[in-house]
Amino acid sequence: MKALFEPNSIAVVGASAEERKIGHIMFRNLIASGFKGELYPINPKASEILGHKAYPTLTAVPQPIDMAIITVPSTFVPSVMEDAGKKGIKDVIIITAGFKELGKEGAHLEKQIGEIGKKYGIRILGPNCMGIINAHHNMNATFTNIYPKAGPVAISSQSGAVCSSLLDWATKSKVGFSKFISTGNKVDIDEADLLTYLKDDEQTKVIGMYIEGANRGKAFMRSALKTSREKPIIVLKSGRTSCGSKAASSHTGALSGSDKVYDAAFRQSGIMRVNTIDEMFDLLQVFANMPLPRGDGLAIVTNAGGHGVMAADACSDYGLTLAQFSKETIDKLKANLPGEANIYNPVDVLGDATAARYEFAIKTVMEDPNVSCIAVLLSPLDTVDIGAVAHLVSSFAGQVPIPIVAAFVGGHKTSKGIDLLREANIPNYESPDKAIRALGAMVRYKKMREELNDSIILTVEGDKERVRQVLDNVLAQGRTSLSESEGKDILKAYGVSVPAEVTAKTADEAAKAAAKIGFPVVLKIDSPDIAHKSDVGGVVVGAASEEAVRNDFELMMSRVASRVPGAKLNGVTICQMVKGKEVLVGMTRDEQFGPVITFGLGGVFVEIMKDVSQRIAPLTHYNVDSMIKSIKSYTILTGARGGKMADIPSLKEALVRISQIAIDFPEISELEVNPVMVGDEGKGCYAVDALVTIRRMN
Ligand code: ACO
Repeated sequence: MKALFEPNSIAVVGASAEERKIGHIMFRNLIASGFKGELYPINPKASEILGHKAYPTLTAVPQPIDMAIITVPSTFVPSVMEDAGKKGIKDVIIITAGFKELGKEGAHLEKQIGEIGKKYGIRILGPNCMGIINAHHNMNATFTNIYPKAGPVAISSQSGAVCSSLLDWATKSKVGFSKFISTGNKVDIDEADLLTYLKDDEQTKVIGMYIEGANRGKAFMRSALKTSREKPIIVLKSGRTSCGSKAASSHTGALSGSDKVYDAAFRQSGIMRVNTIDEMFDLLQVFANMPLPRGDGLAIVTNAGGHGVMAADACSDYGLTLAQFSKETIDKLKANLPGEANIYNPVDVLGDATAARYEFAIKTVMEDPNVSCIAVLLSPLDTVDIGAVAHLVSSFAGQVPIPIVAAFVGGHKTSKGIDLLREANIPNYESPDKAIRALGAMVRYKKMREELNDSIILTVEGDKERVRQVLDNVLAQGRTSLSESEGKDILKAYGVSVPAEVTAKTADEAAKAAAKIGFPVVLKIDSPDIAHKSDVGGVVVGAASEEAVRNDFELMMSRVASRVPGAKLNGVTICQMVKGKEVLVGMTRDEQFGPVITFGLGGVFVEIMKDVSQRIAPLTHYNVDSMIKSIKSYTILTGARGGKMADIPSLKEALVRISQIAIDFPEISELEVNPVMVGDEGKGCYAVDALVTIRRMN
């Protein structure tokens, strides 16, 4: 895509002499941005546009053309694309709207231009986009005249409105852009392509993206993972995929709405997700201008106790710790600051602090080995010379080994100081909390990058033939839901332990089976038509004698028959009673990202508690480890309140085995094991239930 970002020659098809037209504005912007290459206006009615000789068609231009920008109405776009192909142009930006966003007809036209692009090997940006800015190439190939200064931030946006806001923000905050890309409808070039390109773009230090959805989930993850190891990617995502919770029939389905799938995808590929545009701005500023911190210890230097306390409070919210100063630092601060100053962290240089006092405190804490980042806070007290402090903080720009950010908190009085900080590329935040959030994001990114080094996919071999038999048999019977025992057969074929069990058709058979397994036992209704057995009285735990088993059998059969009339009842399964902590392991399949594995505390309240984590299969060791540790009730597994440590290694293995089933059998659309009973350390874990739904594959 080099020719898209760094073309030597550009043709604008539809360049017009009429000032109000987009084709005119695009051409004018290219000239105004100082584009150094050749420019060709293409317009059959004009002989010259803005001092450049015009040509009737692309093919009429005698010289080679690297990139074409199309600004003619949608119906003419296919023929212009054909011309571009014949001319040998390899990159095209289509500004024109009126494609899939308008419905069926537009979608058809969009498909047509995509096919023409493929036929000629043309990469297409858009349609329905604003274009591209490469500030390092003097190229404003958009129809906005907001042209940011050159710098380290690359931005892409699916929405034109967000594009404009980002550009306007960049101008105000003096943040420099390396590339600015409006992706539009993404008929060809999408975020996965852009990330691959930006990874090796030397002018880009940090990437910000606004997306509404990824077209190619897996490709997006792969490309993001490679890129995020090199530079931070900050994503603001809105919109939904079609994999909604409504259609799901299991707890797992209800718990893994599309947005959570994006959360998992982002986490696994090292993307930092933000929820608002201003959070995106805040993070871009710090990543663009500051080095990464060496650890998580924060030093706060403030002229107001209140702001210092607020910043200290925010530390734990954003993964920072208040650095413990060394004795040397404390002695030095004590000897040189007034007796009333707080010399411990936050360092309070007092209301009458001069710039020199700030300077001394900042330089002293910066030398402390326990300090990894610094927040300089300022309240606009009458006693402070805001300009002098801003000059001082600005003097650290580009000179510091650790990040330093400011929060000059106020509005009117602080504005001049803030302007100075902006000119110097020192990130300034409107509140202490936001300053700490930005520094916390840097710490998070650094940790995440280390964790992403674990990229070895965990795999296991299962008995594929056995699973295939089970699935074929179910499909042959015209079913899409498996019975519990069929589900467990699949789990067993992949090495997941299940409790000993026998399905009994009569009360006598049930009593005999229980005696063989050993008391106490669990009774569970066996029916392919019932997903949640306990909801319909289909589970009895702890039957301790043959007589109890007989009674429970009879009662359960009649109870379930009356509660779910018409359900096919195969009998009752008599199960070995296993002990342990109940967790849930499930899988749903997302249209974009594939199998999504859900883990959480199990049992019937799982949907209420919503204490679950998700990862997209296949899983790495780090994915498995982090998905177990990230649930709120993790300490229950590690022996909270005098409990015993659960067998976490065997739980990890079960997660990997279940994820392998999902990978090997795409026809399994949902799978849920609830509960997986995790025994104490060394005692293994058992899949106590299994809910499997399949779909026909063409
Ligand atoms: N080759 C060369 N020139 C051509 C051709 C052709 N095949 N066909 C037409 N032209 C010329 C026209 O003669 C005209 O030139 P003129 O002014 O000298 O007569 C010029 O191309 C433009 O054609 P018009 O028919 O005048 O079209 P207009 O400029 O009104 O609209 C546009 C074209 C801008 C592409 C319009 O169809 C459109 O899509 N507008 C919306 C764009 C948009 O919003 N994109 C998304 C941005 S992202 C966001 O949301 C902010």
